[in-house]
Amino acid sequence: MMRTSYCGHIDKNRVGQQVTLAGWVHARRDHGGVLFIDLRDRTGLVQLVFNPEPADLFKRAEQLRSEFVIHVSGTVRLRPEGTQNAHLSTGLIEVVAETLVLLNEAKTPPFEISEYTQASEEVRLRYRYFDLRRPQLQRNMRLRHDVSQAVRQTLSDEGFLEIETPMLTKSTPEGARDFLVPSRLSPGHFYALPQSPQLFKQVLMVGGFDRYFQIARCFRDEDLRADRQPEFTQIDLEMSFVEEADVMALIEKLVAHVFKKAIGMDIKLPLPRLSYNEARTKYGSDKPDLRIKTEIQDVSAIFANTRFERIKKNLSDGGVVKGLLHKGGASFSRKEVDDLTKFAQSVGAQGLAWLKMDPKGQVESPIAKFLSPEEMDQLKAAFKVEPGDIIFIVADKKILAENVLGALRLHLWNTFVVKNNPPALKDEAHMLWITDFPLFEWSDEEKKWVSVHHPFTSPHPDDLSTLKTLNAKTEVTNPASPLGQFRARAYDLVLNGTELGGGSVRIHQADVQRTILELIGHDKTSADEKFGFLMEALEAGAPPHAGIALGLDRLIALLVGEPSIRDVIAFPKTAKGTCLVSGAPGLAEQKQLRELGIAQPRPTAPVPKNVPLPTKESPPQ
Ligand code: AMO
Repeated sequence: MMRTSYCGHIDKNRVGQQVTLAGWVHARRDHGGVLFIDLRDRTGLVQLVFNPEPADLFKRAEQLRSEFVIHVSGTVRLRPEGTQNAHLSTGLIEVVAETLVLLNEAKTPPFEISEYTQASEEVRLRYRYFDLRRPQLQRNMRLRHDVSQAVRQTLSDEGFLEIETPMLTKSTPEGARDFLVPSRLSPGHFYALPQSPQLFKQVLMVGGFDRYFQIARCFRDEDLRADRQPEFTQIDLEMSFVEEADVMALIEKLVAHVFKKAIGMDIKLPLPRLSYNEARTKYGSDKPDLRIKTEIQDVSAIFANTRFERIKKNLSDGGVVKGLLHKGGASFSRKEVDDLTKFAQSVGAQGLAWLKMDPKGQVESPIAKFLSPEEMDQLKAAFKVEPGDIIFIVADKKILAENVLGALRLHLWNTFVVKNNPPALKDEAHMLWITDFPLFEWSDEEKKWVSVHHPFTSPHPDDLSTLKTLNAKTEVTNPASPLGQFRARAYDLVLNGTELGGGSVRIHQADVQRTILELIGHDKTSADEKFGFLMEALEAGAPPHAGIALGLDRLIALLVGEPSIRDVIAFPKTAKGTCLVSGAPGLAEQKQLRELGIAQPRPTAPVPKNVPLPTKESPPQ
């Protein structure tokens, strides 16, 4: 071993002792003949003192620069009165250097290795080896390790076995595009990197493993946001002979243990539950942030006999009128209201109506002239508007109105209430389950019905017989199909507006699985080609089973209070999916491509060196 101690572990109990240390030169101060060097390793800093004598040692110390790697031995002593540093764990002592070996020089870092840095994220990601030395990332990676250990320990104690599933596999439909890997031995064929271990963990249940878990890498080729990466990690688990309540109880225990262990925080159990419908209706989201108290109101009934043409038409087309009150918002300037309207439009609204009540109780609103006095009174009463408040109103299709007001609810809170500085997790944590999800939803993009979770999610048992009577061929592309009414045995775990995890009771009967796959457009041939191995396994005595996966990166980001999961991943990707450290993705050699039987694809544009990073949440889908 090159050292007897880590820098940050030396305290006054070591005074008088000889220590050997190794690390990086953090800072250098020349105090009139005496040289002070802060030496850093992953535990922190310690102050080294180089006295003018012996001159040779002093001279060599003078040559040291930031981030040089050194090996030092010396004696620990108390710092003289008045020079102690209360902010440093080693602030009472210093090490008087006796030997010094320069292990390596370093180029000047492009930014200071300190807690706070002005460097752009691109620069930080490009020079990640310097960035990783910063206390913030050291702390985040440490906590990530602690959480992974706590998860392994807890699940192992609960009888779960950690089993790895393949990386080179077939497509697992989790709603994203696959990353494909060409096969050399089967030219023209491709593996898909797993979007999750879903199919294999179900096969493990058929294989009798009963309780499986894995801290699993997953790959999804989708547009990135602050809380999405193309490769990320899940705490993935599956259990046999269980129902929803068993999985939820286990996860509650696991999460409570992890929160206690990682940040000393108590989570009150059992966690509250909210149905999908209630979450959408009240908060316009299936991952509601309950730190925000405002709720969306449905005021459609007020306009049942309205003469306001715009609203009348919307209601007769099957739309709704919904709104949101913002306390104190009557003071918003014209520009602020315009910006909020633009925001609403950016998330899909055709327009945003508003109604202010000034401190004297006078109403100001561009739509006031279209409303009857009764409608105005009922509107005020519905929102309990008080002088100084503003209400925002959206008349549109139900899903759209909820999406817009849900996004606006978050935006108003972020911008005007917490001013982009949300409270720390320990001060406000609202963790809850969302339950009673629909089984299918209409995808405007694909123009067909798709699974809300994944197609292996069990329908509600009472819905099965009706599901089996539907004509898959005509229903799947029919937006007016009753498919949207069926219920899933699925559950999501949500914390402060972030979806931490999702899972379900699975289909364990092959005929039910076939029905569901058919209803989303996979006939027998397509189902067998894509999921044949699961279909086969289900016919081999599959036990009833259920499971869940939690996003590890999101969990850590919330625990350490980072707004982006990039700060809890050692080597994350940019918005364009590039790794700024390695330069991936790169071009392949002609020879490699020939071996794979692939023609050289001409890059349409070189991968830019500096790629913008996703900064904000994209609008809800
Ligand atoms: P799901 O797709 O909901 O479920 O994923 C589970 C959790 O994984 C996290 N997550 C992500 N984190 C970072 N970047 C991403 N691109 C990303 N995508 C998802 C989220 C999410 O809640 N097989 C099912 C689970 C199951 O049914 O057991 C699945 O993967 O926190």
